[in-house]
Amino acid sequence: MQPRAPGPAEPRRVPPGRSRARSRGAALLPSMLMFGVILASSGLLLMIQRGILAQVGPPPPHPPAGPPSRREPPAGPGLELEVLRDTRNRTIRALCGQRSMPRTVWDLPAGQRRTLLRHLLVSDKYRFLYCYVPKVACSNWKRILKVLDGALESVDVQGKMDHKSDLVFLGDMKPEEISYRLKHYYKFLFVRNPMERLLSAYRNKFGEIKEYQQKYGVEIVRRYRKNGGNSAGDDVTFSEFLRYLLDEDVERMNEHWMPIYNLCQPCAVRYDFIGSYERLRDDADHVLERIQAPSFIRFPERQAWYKPVTAQTLHYYLCNTQRRLIKELLPKYILDFSLFAYPLPNITSEFCRQ
Ligand SMILES: *[C@@H]1O[C@H](CO)[C@@H](O)[C@H](O)[C@H]1NC(C)=O
Ligand SMILES: *[C@@H]1O[C@H](CO)[C@@H](O)[C@H](O)[C@H]1NC(C)=O
Repeated sequence: MQPRAPGPAEPRRVPPGRSRARSRGAALLPSMLMFGVILASSGLLLMIQRGILAQVGPPPPHPPAGPPSRREPPAGPGLELEVLRDTRNRTIRALCGQRSMPRTVWDLPAGQRRTLLRHLLVSDKYRFLYCYVPKVACSNWKRILKVLDGALESVDVQGKMDHKSDLVFLGDMKPEEISYRLKHYYKFLFVRNPMERLLSAYRNKFGEIKEYQQKYGVEIVRRYRKNGGNSAGDDVTFSEFLRYLLDEDVERMNEHWMPIYNLCQPCAVRYDFIGSYERLRDDADHVLERIQAPSFIRFPERQAWYKPVTAQTLHYYLCNTQRRLIKELLPKYILDFSLFAYPLPNITSEFCRQ
């Protein structure tokens, strides 16, 4: 399938000043992989966002030098990374350029704005905003913010993190203060494969955290299991969890499974950098360098108690879940797959036989 070329109406949808840098020559070696991601998810997006991506077309030519960078990216993985960043960047621009999408935080309905502003953490000293996404190394970033602020001695302090104290939330500021910071500060977030993030939330919250078992688990089992009335909520299955997500309103979900789109609103906020959980260390170093963090601050190692989600674990859970359930759930998370260029989960029978 060939992507459609931008029609003659294309420039009119882009407000003046937005597309200036985009018309330079030199074609990027198109990575079929990343291109496939966009094409694959655009089918679903078409349905969900009423044809928005239909107008996107192929990636425009890549500017010869790319974004200004101190180091030349190495051959091999460097190119792939550049393609990934570029794909994300273009998809976000294309989708967020649509008339119906929010342009600023003030365009958002009050509830969505409240969620966003509660997830934007502020460092006035280093002039940045970090949108935290639970299950994407956010505890470690919060530790770093506390160390930068002098509230914590070292990022390696053991134990779980207090997620509220000694942190500054953009939502606690006045509108002028909010606007100033959104306009002038460096803004970043970290994203993760949506399916892995859901699985990580499921295993952590329902496997380990009593409070979640009681608050959500009991109700989930009661709703989705025959005679599930007397479960303690500690035995929720992954399928029951997915069925629960299907019935939940994305805007009201718990932050551990709310789509990243709704937590961080990448259309209303123009992020300068989107890091990946899949290359956490390197992307974190990039941010630390960019915000000019003191060199003794390093991104923390994983906490010893943390159980990573591996490809095998994901394979196991996906392949032991009804395909229909996963397919029905994808539209809810489709913006996270598309905007951040993650391939939709492979749940073909060939894959599951492996
Ligand atoms: C997208 O590209 C523009 C121009 O190169 C850059 O300024 C911006 O930081 C990029 N955004 C992201 C999220 O990578
Ligand atoms: C899914 O996995 C199978 C087996 O590894 C592979 O043959 C197939 O091409 C994959 N499909 C997609 C859409 O990635």
